[in-house]
Amino acid sequence: MSRADTAVEPTTAELRQRLPLVSVRGLKVAYGDGPLVLDGVDLDLFPGEMVALLGSSGSGKSTLMKSLTGFAPITDGAVRVGGYDMANLRRGQLRQVRASVGQVFQQFNLVGRLSVLTNVLTGALHDAGPLNLVGGFSSAHRRRALELLDRVGIAHKAQDEARSLSGGQQQRVAIARALMQAPKVILADEPVASLDPRMSHQVLELLHEIAREDGIPVLVSLHVMPLALAHSDRIVGLRHGEMLVSAPTAQLDATALEPIYAHDEEEQDVDGIA
Ligand SMILES: Nc1ncnc2c1ncn2[C@@H]1O[C@H](COP(=O)(O)OP(=O)(O)OP(=O)(O)O)[C@@H](O)[C@H]1O
Ligand SMILES: [Mg+2]
Repeated sequence: MSRADTAVEPTTAELRQRLPLVSVRGLKVAYGDGPLVLDGVDLDLFPGEMVALLGSSGSGKSTLMKSLTGFAPITDGAVRVGGYDMANLRRGQLRQVRASVGQVFQQFNLVGRLSVLTNVLTGALHDAGPLNLVGGFSSAHRRRALELLDRVGIAHKAQDEARSLSGGQQQRVAIARALMQAPKVILADEPVASLDPRMSHQVLELLHEIAREDGIPVLVSLHVMPLALAHSDRIVGLRHGEMLVSAPTAQLDATALEPIYAHDEEEQDVDGIA
């Protein structure tokens, strides 16, 4: 009997675990008649992993995230999110994709005068149908929202106005709101850019824990290289819309990541002389 015959076949569940929930191949994006702002980007997001997206301002990080929710035009290449082909969506499918993608933003995007609990409940709006925000949610939804607030460590703030919380606490509320959607994927666009270093570590650790424990892949864009090295399983680095780095974080260090940021000013000088 050959080695291949005796090898243990992966189970269906194991195979499914290995299928990427997001798959991007050769993605090119141009807004209108403008230049390419993404030029040949490949990205896979597998269950359970946190992937950090690095790059200077304007390198295309937000655009790459927007291409996963239909907010950026796909000029060329393939983008698949949870089984949907983003370049060829049928009627109604865009809404389904957006409902399956949890998003976390730099400015938290909470409704400040509403309670923390109500903000989390709005994450369930896509499957709650038309309702008013006060008392319109089922008790199951409310139980789930409280469980999530407990999980992110701020259940004791459930009835407080969202605007009375610190930045770190507000970002936890935003993460609980994203989880309320039961997302297949979480996109976090500079989620710690408004937070101090301690809070930044805590929020990124929370996102990493969610990726690991819930199997929800998290794509997180960051401006601080050490945070990416400390809190990700893989790093993708963009420069001027091109993918310069895509590797497991364990194989990378600051030196390996330097080319992502190198020579921006020098190039401008050269252009100026020419
Ligand atoms: N809606 C738009 N219309 C035209 N150009 C756009 C649009 N959105 C982004 N761009 C351009 O695309 C390029 C990439 O922008 P993007 O916002 O993706 O960069 P980024 O890496 O997220 O930058 P930052 O770190 O500043 O957030 C920039 O040159 C930007 O001006
Ligand atoms: Mg951006």
